[in-house]
Amino acid sequence: MEFIDLKRQRDRIEPDLRRRIDAVLAHQGFIQGPEVAELEAALASFCGAGHAVTCANGTDALQVALMAKGIGPGDAVFVPSFTYTATAEAILLLGAAPVFVEVREESFNLDMASVASAIDTVRAEGALRPAALITVDLFGRPADAAAARALCDRHGLALISDAAQSFGAQVDGRRVGSLADITTTSFFPAKPLGCYGDGGALFTDDAELAARMRSICQHGKGAAKYDVVRVGLNSRLDTLQAAVLLAKLEIFADEIERRHAVARAYHDRLAGHVATPGLPAKGDDRFAWAQYTLRIAPGQLGSRDAVQARLKAAGIPSAVYYPRPMHRQPAYESLARGPLPISDRLCEQVISLPMHPYLTEAEIDQVCAAVLGDAAQPARPSATSLEPAA
Ligand SMILES: Cc1ncc(COP(=O)(O)O)c(C=O)c1O
Repeated sequence: MEFIDLKRQRDRIEPDLRRRIDAVLAHQGFIQGPEVAELEAALASFCGAGHAVTCANGTDALQVALMAKGIGPGDAVFVPSFTYTATAEAILLLGAAPVFVEVREESFNLDMASVASAIDTVRAEGALRPAALITVDLFGRPADAAAARALCDRHGLALISDAAQSFGAQVDGRRVGSLADITTTSFFPAKPLGCYGDGGALFTDDAELAARMRSICQHGKGAAKYDVVRVGLNSRLDTLQAAVLLAKLEIFADEIERRHAVARAYHDRLAGHVATPGLPAKGDDRFAWAQYTLRIAPGQLGSRDAVQARLKAAGIPSAVYYPRPMHRQPAYESLARGPLPISDRLCEQVISLPMHPYLTEAEIDQVCAAVLGDAAQPARPSATSLEPAA
């Protein structure tokens, strides 16, 4: 069994994929070919954002967003400690200071009370200017955008949503990409919408901001080709990756529905035995389910190590995202400001199971039997059929 089965996806889209790749090989416009603009229009339309700007990867997308907001030395940027390193790295590369804050145990996402108190502390200290908040939609579950918006408005902070793991998710009828001033995402192959290499994008409704971000991605380019109007980066999405993403975008909404059904099937079998990530509270809401992540308390189901060993013995891959919070990383620990016990605890308890749109009922039964071990119950039928629609 694969942790993320990209081969099954490729089998589904192969003719379209090959046709699109062949078209790029024929026109040879490998940088900024027509597929890039076509993809940007399709991405913006998919998520309901005014503008999409593609770039080289999700880390650059964060850096470009911060640069477009003028973040630099002396600025404090609030970020969860329980995240991937890229979120903190982009801030540090610009000479600004990440302030690591706490997350909520059940959602893995930012605890807004922790953000509020960190903003007050930084303001009271007076050494840094509270400048921006980066929310992270961890494992594909959107952070609380309304609460983040209210907090940023109250304190005059820029709001950036790191949606590297959540593109495709939907809240109250609005897709991720249209919920923050700037949303960034990653098209790393394992992401819900992944290409066959590195890729990323930024989304905003603000035309002027979009133009600035586009310029930053192209060496700070001005109106004429060799005008340089700001310091920028070389951060472009390759045309071949845009072609791959166009093929994958055709089936992406369906894949999000399949991921939802897989999560529901896991939930039906595991809830009550172990802390599951739950399901969206409202019927039409969707998480992108980049990961399906359990929390295994000490002694539960043996232990996390025991669960991982049972999975391995059954030939089932699993992963721990993340084994160490950012405030304890050797490169960042000098920036830590006091204990973040929930982030610490999550690192000790989380385990992610195989998750992709093409998991079958039989595979899910097999994973759940290995997770539960002696606690396994006869499989209950899922409320949702995983059979592909006719
Ligand atoms: C939360 C988060 N932010 C940013 C990134 C960076 O994306 P990329 O790998 O495309 O640079 C990732 C990717 O793993 C991520 O998970």
